[in-house]
Amino acid sequence: MNVLDIVVSKKKAEDVRSDLLVVFAVLDKKGKPVNDKIFQGLTLSPEFTAKEEQKLLLYPPFTQKDSTKKSISSKRILVVGLGEIGGGESAGELNDRFRTAGGVIAQICKSSKIKQLAVKLPAFKEIDENSFSEYLVEGLQLGLYQFLKYKKKDDDAYQGVRRVSVVSVSKGQGVRRSIKRGLNSAGAGCVSRDMANEPGNGWTPSDFAKFGKKLSGLDNVETTIFEKGDMKKLGMGGILAVNQGSHEAPKLVVVDYCPEKYQDTIMLVGKGLTFDSGGISIKPSQGMMDMKYDMCGGGAVIAAMEAIALEKPKVRVICLVPSTDNMNGGGAVKPGDIIGHFNGVTSEIENTDAEGRLILADALAYGIATYEPSCVIDLATLTGAVIIALGHHHSGLMCNNDTLAKTLAKAGLRAGEPLWRLPLGPAYAKQIKSKVADIKNTGGRPAGSITAAEYLHKFVGDTPWAHLDIAGTAWDFTEKTYVPKGPSGIGTRTLIEFVRNWRAEGSSMLRSQKKS
Ligand code: BES
Ligand code: MN
Ligand code: ZN
Repeated sequence: MNVLDIVVSKKKAEDVRSDLLVVFAVLDKKGKPVNDKIFQGLTLSPEFTAKEEQKLLLYPPFTQKDSTKKSISSKRILVVGLGEIGGGESAGELNDRFRTAGGVIAQICKSSKIKQLAVKLPAFKEIDENSFSEYLVEGLQLGLYQFLKYKKKDDDAYQGVRRVSVVSVSKGQGVRRSIKRGLNSAGAGCVSRDMANEPGNGWTPSDFAKFGKKLSGLDNVETTIFEKGDMKKLGMGGILAVNQGSHEAPKLVVVDYCPEKYQDTIMLVGKGLTFDSGGISIKPSQGMMDMKYDMCGGGAVIAAMEAIALEKPKVRVICLVPSTDNMNGGGAVKPGDIIGHFNGVTSEIENTDAEGRLILADALAYGIATYEPSCVIDLATLTGAVIIALGHHHSGLMCNNDTLAKTLAKAGLRAGEPLWRLPLGPAYAKQIKSKVADIKNTGGRPAGSITAAEYLHKFVGDTPWAHLDIAGTAWDFTEKTYVPKGPSGIGTRTLIEFVRNWRAEGSSMLRSQKKS
């Protein structure tokens, strides 16, 4: 993953040499496009209305109507529409508008193989230059994402943008700081996409462990890897059961960012299932290949962890990734088997394909007992049922605490990763009662996503806890210009956003509200 090389230029936009110079246009209240000053002399085609996602690519000679006759040093000009911006938009809406514009630029860069890019930040009074540059750069970096690791080196393949010159009106430090934030979170999104793009034999539990260990080189970060022997001693029967049919060693990766001074602890848990064959309850072969993506929850939390540690917030953040694949070797766990989890709860395995909840249960129970966090968020490609419920446009959110649910949903909106809350409740919990053990690992077809969440609920006690089912959005989340086909990296930026806002929003509210 290449992080973009971005410089804030002191030159005038028309004097910057580039393969593509980008300028922006907004719509006024009457629906007419308002263009950047520098291009008032240019003839834009009438089809260009400056709506969101609209773009116009101009090649020289740049015909000018007026007498200014500015000469322009760039080889092409791209005008990108931002739609109407009147001040009534929510922060989340605007962020995504700017990110979307970044994605539009990325698409043109890819199709025109742009190496040198110049962007003139808009000088409209309705647009804050800092937040514009942060989210534009975020969308640009995310949109330019490519995964070429396993392809033969091809001279014609697009190698990406080498340098971006940003021309700002204020030229202030604010823009530089904003660009850094945008790159940090987009970079994390791309890192989690990289992990997901790796096949099941390219990203194993040991690779999660390696990545976790690498993070211990950052300030205030400590990593612990639990091996199979440790899991046996600790009684993590869920992870061990799922791993029984595999030749690949399981790992529980714990990354602890602990600043010198902190009040609260946020715990993040991600399903790191590096390949899900279904086990003895084997999946149909069609589409099974996609189950290399079953580690996207783990990828999201550990990639977010790196970006979070780099930003040095004054809150402790701990991430746990239980990781194994789910295979069907001779020793595999069988339907009907009964296992015991870390906290002593016994579980009847009705379907070996409902394995995510088994590994998450141990990690949740262990993490909560050990760190007593202020809140817990888990991310998992947990159920096919969430795709039936919400399609590929929202991740499912299930939560035992209204304040946490609201704060997290807001972070999701700001990150352009929308969440939709589904209920929990004793009626759903009843569906996972077992005749022979404390619980069983499936609750039948009705409300499959909620009964899976109710399984996890048994392991979090009263701790404010949110579960994000990202099975529908971890890939095939393709509506956004800045999300290329393939894994989306979903959840990564929501978590970064959540931690960024913790002191302002999360901590006090959570403490004042009991669980619901
Ligand atoms: N990893 C799958 C869920 C999944 C399915 C994610 C499709 C993305 C796309 C999970 O482990 C699983 O197999 N869940 C089962 C649960 C069932 C057996 C209760 C499912 O959803 O079918
Ligand atoms: Mn499964
Ligand atoms: Zn799975």
